[in-house]
Amino acid sequence: KQLVGLVGWRGMVGSVLMERMQAEGDFDLIEPVFFSTSNAGGKAPAVARTHTQLRDAGDVAALAQCAIIITCQGGDYTKEVFPQLRASGWQGHWIDAASALRMEDDAVIVLDPVNDGLIRQKLSAGGRNWIGGNCTNSILLMGLNGLFNAGLVEWISSMTYQAASGGGAKHMRELLQGMGVIHGAAADQLATPASAILDIDRRVAQTIREDVPTEQFGAPLAGGLIPWIDSQLPNGQSKEEWKGQAEVNKILGTSATIPVDGLCVRVGAMRCHSLALTIKLSKDLPLAEIEALIQGGNPWVKFVANDKALTLKELTPAPITGTLQIGVGRVRKLNMGPQYLSAFVIGDQLLWGAAEPLRRMLRILLQ
Ligand code: HSE
Repeated sequence: KQLVGLVGWRGMVGSVLMERMQAEGDFDLIEPVFFSTSNAGGKAPAVARTHTQLRDAGDVAALAQCAIIITCQGGDYTKEVFPQLRASGWQGHWIDAASALRMEDDAVIVLDPVNDGLIRQKLSAGGRNWIGGNCTNSILLMGLNGLFNAGLVEWISSMTYQAASGGGAKHMRELLQGMGVIHGAAADQLATPASAILDIDRRVAQTIREDVPTEQFGAPLAGGLIPWIDSQLPNGQSKEEWKGQAEVNKILGTSATIPVDGLCVRVGAMRCHSLALTIKLSKDLPLAEIEALIQGGNPWVKFVANDKALTLKELTPAPITGTLQIGVGRVRKLNMGPQYLSAFVIGDQLLWGAAEPLRRMLRILLQ
């Protein structure tokens, strides 16, 4: 069995990855070595049979013994350790959740249900750096790869509704704390059916302005939204918005760039990212054909007919969270013309958006 090093397995994405690897029996196929940035010498998780002690995640020589390394430790770790490891002559495979190496020429953004062909082509050409995509883009492509495969997408305008988990564990906590603070401010009046809704609203508005914690998000998310994600670029895009076109085209390996652009918005969902899409099709097709193409994109697409009751039941975070399903619905032709299509795509950003493509890449390397 190959030695596979795991770094950053205790964090949020890393924990989801560990759960998925256990559920799929991945640990039966490898010899895991657990690394730690803070607790070297401590006890490794029980799935480790031979290497039961945590190794130091900064120890390049120890890392270099692994045939494959999977890291969810974050971009700073990658930037510090990866160059040293390669400079030491290490020829192994590096699988990384962080964005640091994503746009490097020798890195492939992995999302095998969409770009298995590209992955295998790069693998036979000696590729060794396999990077997980931005969550929003992976979810978009998982939802619509039927349309992309058929060459039907001329451009996409993507307006996103991104969950708190995209920021990290502390962000999820801040959202919940904010919800509690708001409820606390209105609880007495809420319990009295006769109380005036505008009084409740006044108190809530003041609480959101003054008392909801904003340390992580920089603005109150509970009871609100934040129309900016990640840093500001000189062209007016946010970095999250910039990633759309850059990564979608890199994942698909397009020769002519498909324009992808829109606004990215943080909303008070826990871990489901959603996208409201306007798609310009390269040709007019009957709606039923378009629906069939989307539905046949990959086994994880959960196509939801454009019907109110079904949408409320199937196309919200509540049924999608914690599953590998990618919900696709609200598909209809728009007033702009027969080549303009709407769609709503929703997925768990910690699963297909982060952990799942990594463990599937490991499986490809083990074949
Ligand atoms: N950047 C994403 C977000 C998460 O903030 O929602 C990671 O892909």
